[in-house]
This record gives sequence, structure tokens and C-alpha cells, in this order.
Amino acid sequence: MKNFSRRNWLKASMTASAGLFAAGLHANPLETSPYSLSSSRKKRPDDYYARLSSNENPFGPAASAKKAIKAAIDDSFLYPREVRMELMETIAKLEGVSKDHILLGAGSSELLHAGARVYGGSTGKVLSADPTYVSLVRSAELMGSEWIKVPLNKEMDHDLGIMESKVTKAISLVYLVNPNNPTGKILTGSEIRGFCNLVADKVPVFVDEAYIDYMDDPAGSTAVDCIRNGKNVIVAKTFSKVHAFAGLRVGYCIAQPEVIKKLAEEGPRNTLTGPSMAAANASLTDAEFLSYSVKMNNESKKFIYGFLDKMGYDYFPSQTNFVLFPISMDGEEYRKKMMVNKVSVRGMKIHGQDYCRVSMGKLEDLEMFADAFTKVAGQTLNKG
Ligand SMILES: Cc1ncc(COP(=O)(O)O)c(C=O)c1O
Repeated sequence: MKNFSRRNWLKASMTASAGLFAAGLHANPLETSPYSLSSSRKKRPDDYYARLSSNENPFGPAASAKKAIKAAIDDSFLYPREVRMELMETIAKLEGVSKDHILLGAGSSELLHAGARVYGGSTGKVLSADPTYVSLVRSAELMGSEWIKVPLNKEMDHDLGIMESKVTKAISLVYLVNPNNPTGKILTGSEIRGFCNLVADKVPVFVDEAYIDYMDDPAGSTAVDCIRNGKNVIVAKTFSKVHAFAGLRVGYCIAQPEVIKKLAEEGPRNTLTGPSMAAANASLTDAEFLSYSVKMNNESKKFIYGFLDKMGYDYFPSQTNFVLFPISMDGEEYRKKMMVNKVSVRGMKIHGQDYCRVSMGKLEDLEMFADAFTKVAGQTLNKG
């Protein structure tokens, strides 16, 4: 990433006042795509805001998933044993493991909390990068565990060498998020598997692959291979991202059968609903929807990259459904100002620099982001 400077802000205000949005940005790939979304902003109620803060996926769920939910509603009086078995079988086939390697959860959050309960506690020490997604770490801390942080390096990548050097018998769990949230940056398949193969003989490694389907090479990047080879690695996956199930709450983890038993004792027991599991089963095998979902996300990223390029901003190219970029004002103040302009994003400070994390979304929401950002950035310059 190039150096970010005040010059960028000046350039930003100049390009914005040159009527950027009316011209160049509207020639974006979303408009020419077969899945083009016409702007319905004008018809929206006044309280509408663009929700670009939680990495949700507005391009789904799949039609096949919705159909499966409707069909499953009539069976809602039954405990959903059969549909759970069907989903477990589909996952087992997809991941190349047997069913006793799999635990379902109502979203992967339930599985992260189960991991915190099994490997946390008052004597636990959880090692992870900082910043990363902290749900597991926070749960462990609430139980009295210590968080051993290894800062991301200057390029905002995991420093696996340092992480490895911190792995001692005192560490109870290593937690890695790949691709990482909030950076959108990745560890390659060989990096993560090399790390897991070295470390997992000493300490269990929990790999959170929430965004893996957005990677250039999901199959070549997963750590599930290590589990197939007998290593003490736990991989968590969610349907909340590429499958667009954030509100349906479906996730799963894969680990050695004895670890799955421990996680099940401490964690979710049949918490998923029949309609959600039926929908997940349909979505998992809907290759057409999955490629549509990834394609729309890529087109949204092209819009954001194009906007930031034209505004003179640097950003981290992302293999997820969000983009992180440096800003020149306090992150929290920025977030509040964006919200005043009806756009919800995340503002944060990393290594002393302020950043915005913006989730991908539909064209009309991305346009709202671009308009609000121009106003908020302009205001900062005027204050200067
Ligand atoms: C890295 C990561 N893991 C897990 C989750 C939790 O997802 P869910 O509980 O919806 O499966 C999120 C949510 O944004 C996330 O970013």
C-alpha cells in the first residue's frame, strides 16, 4: 500500500468537487452486470441507512435456500433429526471427513464460544494476532483467560514467526482468522498449513475461515487438510457470509472426533432449526448461486476500489466482503459523521493510524457510502 498523506485528502476534495459521481463512477461494473441493481434510494423512507458495518451479504440467500425453508416449515412440528443428518452428510462429503469430525452451531459464533469454554477458563492463555476478530478471545477473557497478542506486522500481515516463537506449553489455544478481519488479508494455504503442522503438536490451533469462500483459491487455502492428516486443528466455517445466512444462523466446525466431543459438551446441542438446516443443505450444493454471490462481491469491491482510487486513497486489496483503508481523522468521529449521513461503517485505530472498514453491498448503498464519504472527508479538510 502506498503512503497515505494529507495530499490524498486534498486530492479527494478536488476530485469530488469535479463532479466525480455524476461522471466516471457511474460507469461501474455493477450497472452493466446481468445482475444490475437499479437505485431505489429515492423511494426509500427517511430512516433508511446503508448498513455496511457487519460484513453481511445482501446478494442472497439463494432462491434454492428460500425454497427449502418454505418446504421445511410444514415439518416444523418435528425435531429436525433427519434434516440435521442430511446436512452433516453434505458437509462431510464436501470437506472429505467423516460425520464425527463435524459439529453444527447456530452461526460460527456458537462454536467460537465453545472453543473459548474448552480452551479458556481461569488458567487459559489464548494466542492470536492483533487486530483480529475478537469474539473467541473476548469469551475466553470473560472466563478469566489471558489474551497473548502478537501485533500484525507493518504490512498488516500475521507474523507467523513471532507467533510460533510464543507457543509454549502455557498457551492453551492459538486462534487464527484467515482471511483476517478487519484487514481482509490472507495467509496462503502453504503458510497456514505449515504453521499448523509445526504448532498443533504442542497446542491446538483454531482457524476461523468465515471468509474463505471469497478467497482466490478457497480449496487450496483451507486448514482442513491438517485435520484430515490427524493434526489437532479446529476449523470453523459460517454460512453468514458467502451464503448470506447471517439471520438464519448456521455454522459448523471440523476437528478431531475427540475434540468435537469436548466442544459439544461445552457448546451447542441441537440449536439449529429445521428450516435453517434445510436451507443450508440447499445452498451448499447450489454452485450457481455461490458463483453469483462471489461475482457480486467482486463487482462491489471494484466499485469501492474505483472510488478510492479516484479519491486518491490507498486501501488493502481484500479477499473478503469488506475493505479496510486508512483515513485522516479519528475513526470514532468518522464513524459517527458517516452515520449522520445515513451510512453505517466501522472506524478503528490500528498501530496509531485510523482506518475505515466498509462492507460490500448493493450499488445504491455503495453510492450512499461514496456520497457520505465525500461529505465527511470534505468537512475534515475544511476544518484543517
Ligand atoms: C472472522 C469472523 N468469524 C466469525 C464471525 C461470526 O459469524 P457467525 O456467528 O454469523 O457465523 C464473524 C462475523 O462477522 C467473523 O467476521
